Amino acid sequence: MNTIENFSLKEYNTFGIEAKAKQFVSVSSSEELIEVLKTNSSTPIFILGGGSNMLLTKDIDALVIHINLKGKKIIREDADFAWVEGMAGENWHEFVLWTIEQGLGGLENLSLIPGNVGTTPIQNIGAYGVEIKDTFDHCTAISKKTGEEVTFDRDACKFDYRESIFKNEAKDQFVITKVVYKLTKRNHKKNTSYGAIEQELASNNIIHPTLKDISNAVISIRNSKLPNPKELGNSGSFFKNPIVPMAEFKKIQSQFPDMPFYKISENEIKVPAGWLIETAGFKGKKFGNAGIHSKQALVLVNYGQATGNEIWEVSKHIQQTIWDKFGIKIEAEVNII
Ligand code: EPU
Repeated sequence: MNTIENFSLKEYNTFGIEAKAKQFVSVSSSEELIEVLKTNSSTPIFILGGGSNMLLTKDIDALVIHINLKGKKIIREDADFAWVEGMAGENWHEFVLWTIEQGLGGLENLSLIPGNVGTTPIQNIGAYGVEIKDTFDHCTAISKKTGEEVTFDRDACKFDYRESIFKNEAKDQFVITKVVYKLTKRNHKKNTSYGAIEQELASNNIIHPTLKDISNAVISIRNSKLPNPKELGNSGSFFKNPIVPMAEFKKIQSQFPDMPFYKISENEIKVPAGWLIETAGFKGKKFGNAGIHSKQALVLVNYGQATGNEIWEVSKHIQQTIWDKFGIKIEAEVNII
């Protein structure tokens, strides 16, 4: 384990922002992690996973610990289910493909989401009608304060739309080291009802899709809408889809009858932020080195040399415009550092 001073994080965040860590160390086991935490108990610590959900607006004046724990295996199985463990530093998409190769169902709709296994519970990643909470069994985390290992089951994680205990009460207190998912061995609950998946399968004449077919459909849809961070720096959806009270929604709908929406409950409606941003005229717009993706307005992009602050300014301008035009507050999904 080498601690490096003044380390560039450009390759460690999917926005491709140039920012420096005061100190940087990569750990590849829980033991190494515990040792680093113990020997640096009075130093400010910043935990870095896949770097796919953060916007760096400044250098990090802390010891950045890069979570590089690798490994994946089936830890238990019965006739119907397999419990699969992924170490926190495993690349998520490679992990998903591996579970599909094992014939296990549950993660196929979450193909090609950037980031690592360890961060999936933090924001309860989701796409195409599936969220991680649907297959999550438990995760193991290490307390930053005490170095103790703690297990969180599904209830303990308090999952909600792009939310968990790790973004709220337990924020910055734990480092997730491994996650166990409960996947199906047979009678897979295939989730193909999401419009774009149905269309993609139909256009390939697939009537009885395999897990791999669903994964391929998701990959194809994502590739057509979402930029590859290796080619164009981005962090996926920059904003969360706002949830508005029914009465307020009705008022806005009378002015914008085309607005798409999803009913969450009797009193709450989720509105796609991508539609709001596109309707406000931002889709494909460029502001210096930063911009709004031309195929999905929910995604902000770095055209090469943007600073985190430039992207942050664009995001604040979008938030203000949406507020002025629709009276809806949209919140960043990405962590602003
Ligand atoms: N829309 C527009 N313009 C746009 C984008 C979307 O009008 O530029 C409209 C679409 O026509 C559709 C609606 O908004 O009616 C929803 O669009 P889409 O199905 O593309 O999904 P989304 O709500 O924009 C969410 C997730 C994505 C996930 C997709 C698919 C959030 C914040 N984002 O986006 O997640 O891939 O659904 O399930 O919930 C991510 O978190 O990084 C991410 C990419």
